[in-house]
Order: sequence, then C-alpha cells, then structure tokens
Amino acid sequence: MLGDSVMSPAWTAGLLIVATIAIWGFHPLARWRYRSFRGPQPLWLLGNLVDFVRKGTHKVFLDWNAKYGSIYMFMMGPNPVVVVNEPEVGRALLLSSDQRMNFRGAAELLSGDDKAMQANNLAGLNDKERHRDLKNAWLPMFNSASLGMSTELINRSAEHLCTNLAGYARQGKETNVWRDFGRMTMDVVGSVAFGVDFHTQENDGSKNSEEAQRLVEASAQIFSENPIARVGWGGLVTLFPFLTPIVRPISQRFPDPAAYRTSQARKKLRSVVGQLMKDARSAQAAEGKVAPLKVDVDVSAGQQAAEPAAPRQRKALAPGSFLKHMLGSKHIASDQHFSDIEITAQAFIFLLAGYETTANTLAFTTYCLATNPEKAAKLMQEIDREAGQGEISLEQLRGMPYTEACVKEALRLFPPVTALARQAQQDTVILGHHVPKGAGIMVPVLAFHHSPEIYRNPEAYVPERWMEGTPEYAQDSQVQGKWMPFGDGTRVCVGQRLALMEAKVALAHVFRRFSFKLSPGQVPLDVVCPLLMKPTTGVFVTPMLRNEE
Ligand code: HEM
Repeated sequence: MLGDSVMSPAWTAGLLIVATIAIWGFHPLARWRYRSFRGPQPLWLLGNLVDFVRKGTHKVFLDWNAKYGSIYMFMMGPNPVVVVNEPEVGRALLLSSDQRMNFRGAAELLSGDDKAMQANNLAGLNDKERHRDLKNAWLPMFNSASLGMSTELINRSAEHLCTNLAGYARQGKETNVWRDFGRMTMDVVGSVAFGVDFHTQENDGSKNSEEAQRLVEASAQIFSENPIARVGWGGLVTLFPFLTPIVRPISQRFPDPAAYRTSQARKKLRSVVGQLMKDARSAQAAEGKVAPLKVDVDVSAGQQAAEPAAPRQRKALAPGSFLKHMLGSKHIASDQHFSDIEITAQAFIFLLAGYETTANTLAFTTYCLATNPEKAAKLMQEIDREAGQGEISLEQLRGMPYTEACVKEALRLFPPVTALARQAQQDTVILGHHVPKGAGIMVPVLAFHHSPEIYRNPEAYVPERWMEGTPEYAQDSQVQGKWMPFGDGTRVCVGQRLALMEAKVALAHVFRRFSFKLSPGQVPLDVVCPLLMKPTTGVFVTPMLRNEE
C-alpha cells in the first residue's frame, strides 16, 4: 500500500519539486560562473543576507573588505553581487556605468502610483535617454546663479532653526538636533524647490505644524526601508523572484507592518506633490502658456559667481520654480513635454532626497564638532571672522574653507550613502576577473572613507586633511575615488551643490550663536543604515548661547 503511494505520480512530482528547490537554494550556476571570486560563504537559499540583517549594511562591507581584498562577491539571496574594493577602479566603474542595480525584492511589489513614482524619478529610472533628458532639466536648479537667488531663503530657514535652538538654550533644555536639522532641510526644500512654506519649523501645535510634522515623519519612514535586508513580503520575493507576480496582489491585500507604514508614508508624500503639481498647473493656466521661468543673471557680478560660468549655466531659475520649469521642459529627441507622472516623480524625489541626506550630514557634523571642541573653536574663529552678523552670502562662504572642510570630513566619516550599486550591462573584466552581464556591482564608499591605506588615523575627525598646504593634507594619499559621498559619473548626486551650500550656511548661522554640550552616552555614535546611514535615535545636545542675547 505504502509502496504504491510512494511511487504515485503525485509523490514523484512532490519529491522532484523539493529536490529542485533544495538544489536551487545552493545557486550552483551562480557559484560556478563566479568561481574565480573570493567572498563570504553563502548560506543555503539566503546567501549572505543574514549578515546584512545582523550587522547592518555599513558594517558588513567594512568587515568583508578587510578579509577579502580588492574584489570579491557575495550572494544577495539568489543574486550574485561583485564588490569592487579599490577606489580608483570603483570610480572608473562609476564613470563608465549608468545603470543602477535592480535590487529586486520590495521594489518589485510596488504597483500603481507607487510604482510610477519609483520608475520615473531621476534616481530610480534606468532608461538612458529619459535619464539624460530629466537630469539636464534638473541641473539649472543648482547652478551658481540659481543658488545665489536661493541664498536668502536658505538663510531664512537657518535663522528660524537658530530661533528654535535659542529657545532650548534659554531653558537649558536638551534637543535632538538631528530632528531640528531635518525640519530645517524640509523647510528649505519647500521654499527653494516649490515656493511654499511647509511650516516644518513651527512647533506651536497648530494645524499647519501638525501637518508639517506628518510630512517630515512620512519622509523619514521611507528612508527606514532597507532594500537589501527585508523581512516580510519583500524578503520573500528577494529569495524567490519568480514568485513576484503571485506575491504582489497578496502583499497589497495583506501588507506586512513595515510595508504598510511605508505605503502610508508614500501616500502622504504623493498627496503633497499632487497638490503642488495642481497648483503649478493652475499657475500655468493663469499665465496661458508653458514657459520655463528663466531669469538672466550676470554671474560675474557679486555673490552669484561660485565657479567659472559655462554659457549654458548663465540661466538662473528663480527659487520655487522647479515645477514650473519642469512643465516647460522637454525630451530632446521627441521634443515632447515631460508627462505629468514624470514631473510629479521628480517632485517626489526632490522632497525625499533633499531632506534626510542633508539633515543627517548636519547632525553628523555637529556630533563631530561637539566631540572635538578644538576643531569647533577653530570653526567658530573662521565664522566670527568671515560671517559677522546677518545674512551669509555665497561670497562669504568662499572665504570659509574650514567650514567646508568640517562638512567634508563629517561626510567622510559618516557618508549617508555608504555604497553605490550598479548593474553590469555587458560581460566585462574587472581587476582580472570576468564579471558576467547582469551582475550586481557595489562600490563600498564607506570602506574607502575609513581605509588606513588612504587616510592617516582614519577614525579621527581631522577637517585639516581637506585643506591643501597643511601637514594633515600631505599625510593622506591623494588617490582618485577616496571621497565619494555624492557618488560619481552620470548618476552623481544632482543636488550636491545645494546640499553643501545649505550645510555651510546652516553651520555658519548655528555656530556663530551656539556651542553644544553633547548629552552623555553617545560616544561612539550609534548609527544604522537601512537605506541611508543615520543616527539610530538622534544626536542629543544642549545648545548654549555663545554671547549674552
Ligand atoms: C549631503 C547631502 C546629500 C548626499 C550625501 C547625497 C548623496 C547622493 C549620492 C551618493 C547619489 C548617487 C547614488 C548613486 O550613484 O547611485 C545621489 C543621487 C541623487 N541625489 Fe543626492 N545627496 C545629497 C543631497 C541631495 C539633495 C539636496 C538633493 C535634492 C535635489 C539630491 C537629489 C539626488 C537625486 C535626484 C539623485 C539621483 C541622481 C541620478 O540618478 O542621476 N541629493 N545623492
């Protein structure tokens, strides 16, 4: 009887399926194709995902790089990923490749508007031509002339931040300065990109300020999503990509808690950008034409000039005109205006990318300065000498190299983006190894930033290493690719000039009025890295007024 059932077709099919999954879980084909690489031992089915969950993305690469040298591979579930652990080679790779890695997993479960936002935003899209057209449209937003026109708004946001900090200082009250900076950076995005006041720095319990709080929280939630180490439905499709069409509708009907929080957050952001888009369309209709708002600014005059102006950089976009400018921009080959989805998706990523990255940078810089009082004193000297009172101009910032060095050094120690990911578009050879088409490739920026082979005393906060002519500068190796917090190549951060300028203006405002006492128990700072590296709970300080006010 038993013998009959064991031999039945159903049993045979069942056994075959189990055997196939068991063998598939060892990923024999990938292991054969990548056999020339060293790397951590993958687990059955999970590959090396457990390491990401256990240690966090940032620590994994630091550990592996020390063990496996210049190039190695690991398994992200069934997906092989090659890690290029040589700054010069990594940089060359970024210069020559423009396709972001497709992480599969959770992103594949998006549908409808969520998918449209993801697939069409500048950071998410992988279509060469559309990426080029949209990036060209973004760029004028960040040229010197446009930034010059935004200076006043950024100063205003920084002043508002200082007013809030002064309130805590007078009461001797501790604050999570990471959150304070976050409310400021969102304020800047609102005014500089969209010409609206998001009220994020108001904390008076009013309807406006509560709404603003929800916007900031929604953006923070999206950055809490880990594209690699996901549990729940996202994790399931990372491990079994072929199940995606079946899992997608189920996951939407019964989302896991993390996916639910993120989908609510995305909804909130979509409603904000939807409203902004509606307003921009109405304004356009009122004007009766589609015309990019362009103002000619003579960059040779005064504070606008931050770099020699190429002819196409002479056009400045007035603050707040991002959407209006996008509505007037076109695809080059087809001469078609960008679609509403394309434009809304750019607004969506502007909100997200413009907020947390810069807030984290400012919080990390404040932490570094609070733990290195002699560097903070040097910074204050420069600020007192150059920035005086009132608004801080681009011209003044140019005379403040130490302020810039303080930000650069914090970005070295704590780059919000810890690794850059690309997808091989064809078979290629990297450092003598054959890398097959379709392979994921990672460039572990954080590991370069902490390399003792490049930086002398890499764990120390030494802004002087960014100032040519100093002994500290001379002691470090000047290898290309050693500092890439903004990436490089075609996919380099489009907002880096805004981010750096905003960070310097904010630091100058803050450090000319305050010094900071770090609350106990925060050294070394506890950080996590779901999507971006950030303080686990925050940076807690008590601001102290430097002078009687
Ligand atoms: C300190 C602050 C910032 C840091 C550290 C940072 C970092 C980065 C990095 C590393 C990339 C490239 C990722 C890759 O190569 O795969 C990137 C891309 C991008 N960033 Fe930033 N970013 C910052 C601020 C901003 C701001 C203020 C904006 C606002 C507009 C922005 C918008 C973008 C966009 C749209 C992309 C995609 C570019 C493309 O794919 O062509 N970022 N950022």
